Amino acid sequence: MIAMPCTVLIENSNRRITVEQNEILLTALLSRGVRFAYSCQSGNCGACKCQLVAGQVEALPFSDGALSPVERERGIILACRSLVRSDLTIHLSTPAETDAA
Ligand code: FES
Repeated sequence: MIAMPCTVLIENSNRRITVEQNEILLTALLSRGVRFAYSCQSGNCGACKCQLVAGQVEALPFSDGALSPVERERGIILACRSLVRSDLTIHLSTPAETDAA
């Protein structure tokens, strides 16, 4: 399968970045200078939660303690366990800042 570019809109910072389809969302954001809270990067701590407002991700395995079923129903995802599958709109709990590189 050929990876297609996808757009991720961070709605509460009005920032739009281009990532590759099938990239891990957290890795994609960090590599493009988005400040994002995280810790374990393995689906265990829950530090990388954000709201998926629109679009599709594929969730990789994560521990039950990191994200509850209720949170999943509300559209909360773990950025470190989410493969980008389409254009996305996300909402960060802390508005993203960018490294002015
Ligand atoms: S960084 Fe720990 S669950 Fe994502």
